[in-house]
Amino acid sequence: MEPTLRGYVSARSEKSSPVSSSPSPSSRYSTVAIAFHWLLALALIGVFCVGLYMTGLSFSPAKLKLFNWHKWAGVTILFLTVLRLLWRLTHRPPPLPETIANSMPTWQRMAHHGTHYLLYVLFFAVPLIGWAYSSAAGFPVVLFGAWPLPDLLSVDKAFAEAIKPWHRLAAFTLAGLVLLHVAAALKHHLMDRDGLLARIGLGKAS
Ligand code: HEM
Ligand code: HEM
Repeated sequence: MEPTLRGYVSARSEKSSPVSSSPSPSSRYSTVAIAFHWLLALALIGVFCVGLYMTGLSFSPAKLKLFNWHKWAGVTILFLTVLRLLWRLTHRPPPLPETIANSMPTWQRMAHHGTHYLLYVLFFAVPLIGWAYSSAAGFPVVLFGAWPLPDLLSVDKAFAEAIKPWHRLAAFTLAGLVLLHVAAALKHHLMDRDGLLARIGLGKAS
């Protein structure tokens, strides 16, 4: 029988104080980190789908409206990602339980951490490139139609056309990494049955 996650929580957990001798009751991410994870996962999927859909539409007021919603949602995601990163830097997640960490070959542990790292890089790169493209194309972002945001670049149509594919490429790279991330999470859940999903608030530790 698999031991429970609770038994493997060590004093390294994010909630443990360095002087505390009592182990943390859980190897879950903090509630705030879990809330950021699921809120931003849903938001990113939504913004990605709207991005794909809107670019396929022919020119119309509906298309312009969707472009604006896409940009507002993207900038909001960027803002929430800054808060998420600040939280992440000041509240280290609990380490992987030893049972899970020990059962992963080195390459898998590196892929686990490397994927998270790259995801964070893309959380910034995708909206920033989108914003830079909009600025260079001469369409400033007016958040929710009320607050004009500064341009990231001055208007340069040729440069805008050059970086337009970068936004798409970065967004598709992010989508690919997310698929890999979810596949790995499901492998832990369905094949290894090691309770990893409980760390991010899904179900109970096995
Ligand atoms: C757009 C969708 C998603 C994105 C962008 C995303 C992104 C992330 C990121 C960045 C982390 C690391 C958190 C941190 O260290 O601060 C993480 C952790 C995690 N995610 Fe996701 N995620 C997504 C969807 C999912 C789904 C659908 C599942 C489950 C099927 C899942 C399961 C997990 C688990 C279990 C962890 C914790 C890994 C660990 O133990 O260290 N994620 N996710
Ligand atoms: C935060 C996450 C974001 C994601 C996941 C995302 C994703 C996408 C995707 C998938 C497309 C369709 C690309 C194509 O098929 O050519 C797209 C297009 C676009 N995005 Fe984003 N985007 C994000 C943020 C932003 C932001 C913050 C802005 C600007 C402030 C922006 C501006 C645009 C524009 C103007 C287009 C249309 C480009 C064209 O005309 O082909 N995006 N986005």
